[in-house]
Amino acid sequence: MVEERVKFFKALGDETRLNIIGFLLSNEHCACDFKQMKDKDQTTISRHLKVLTEAGIVKRTKRGRNIIYDIKNDEMKGRLLNMGIEAKGDCACNKVGDTGSIIKESVKKAYGKIAREGGSCCCGSSCCDGDVSNDPIRISASLGYSDEELKVLPESNLGLGCGNPGAFGAIKLGDIVLDLGSGAGMDVFLAAGKVGNSGKVIGVDITMDMIRKARRNAKKNGFTNVEFRHGDIEELPVDSDSVDLILSNCVINLTPNKSKVFNEAYRVLRKGGKMYISDMVLLEELTEEQRNDEELITGCVGGAILRDDYLELLRDAGFYLDRVSDDIGIAERQYQNLPVESLKIVAVKV
Ligand SMILES: C[S@@+](CC[C@H](N)C(=O)[O-])C[C@H]1O[C@@H](n2cnc3c(N)ncnc32)[C@H](O)[C@@H]1O
Repeated sequence: MVEERVKFFKALGDETRLNIIGFLLSNEHCACDFKQMKDKDQTTISRHLKVLTEAGIVKRTKRGRNIIYDIKNDEMKGRLLNMGIEAKGDCACNKVGDTGSIIKESVKKAYGKIAREGGSCCCGSSCCDGDVSNDPIRISASLGYSDEELKVLPESNLGLGCGNPGAFGAIKLGDIVLDLGSGAGMDVFLAAGKVGNSGKVIGVDITMDMIRKARRNAKKNGFTNVEFRHGDIEELPVDSDSVDLILSNCVINLTPNKSKVFNEAYRVLRKGGKMYISDMVLLEELTEEQRNDEELITGCVGGAILRDDYLELLRDAGFYLDRVSDDIGIAERQYQNLPVESLKIVAVKV
């Protein structure tokens, strides 16, 4: 009982959480409604919503593909209003500076430079040390690509991945495959060899220079079953229920709204379709300073979220998690022992 009270009052001891409560006292909201709250990214908002839920102030309800947040019940509403917390008339969205757009601009700038000037490592930062050099071949070999795979199209290997998602399971002849954040196209070209001419592989990337580079690679090497689309994986330029398999290699950590990415992935997959993800996640919280560090954000660390929160967002989007494994050693090999790991997931649209 005392413990519950402590949780309750602790949850109220934060300005952002009081603001969220204010909006929820007027109306229920989905987490994405709060994404544009002043200086708050989606990860921060999700964390605050979690604290409020665990303190018994807010309840979560699944509605279709969305999680809706509301004050737990009328009694709680009365209690909060009696404490002097004011209901805010309107929701926070669309009011103030959009941190999401700022992050995306930084990402496009950083990866545009890499596309034009050549590969780097650690998802675009310059943090490599230990026994993995800045050589994309050595980096990709350390992530599980075979010698044969590395020979397929070396120009498309910029050493930006954190795993080899195309090897997590079957990619079948005739499959329609989608690669989220396809970069210079390495995983697209490897999948293209497996789906054959009766299948197709679509790469989507937000950075136009990456798309140009991938298209040049495709043309030069005569690939006819691949397509590179310029777009944001938070709003996929892909039809609903049209894809058999989704790949994503070290990308979703860079997106400000990960729920949106997972909801979109779920929308475009056919029933029974799978997602093979390799991505950087946190093993412990970063400091505020680290989370706002542009180099860490574009280096696949600053925008990463906690491992368990990542898996929860996938489940919230409707996915069944068939397999999950961890590469903890990547922190030492490529990330200067920051509290990160590469998470490998096979998720199914059931
Ligand atoms: C670390 S690189 C990985 C590239 C590729 N998957 C690979 O393994 O080589 C991240 C890529 O994701 C792209 N990206 C980042 N945010 C994105 C978004 N919101 N929508 C689409 N692509 C995005 C970047 O432009 C970049 O090409």
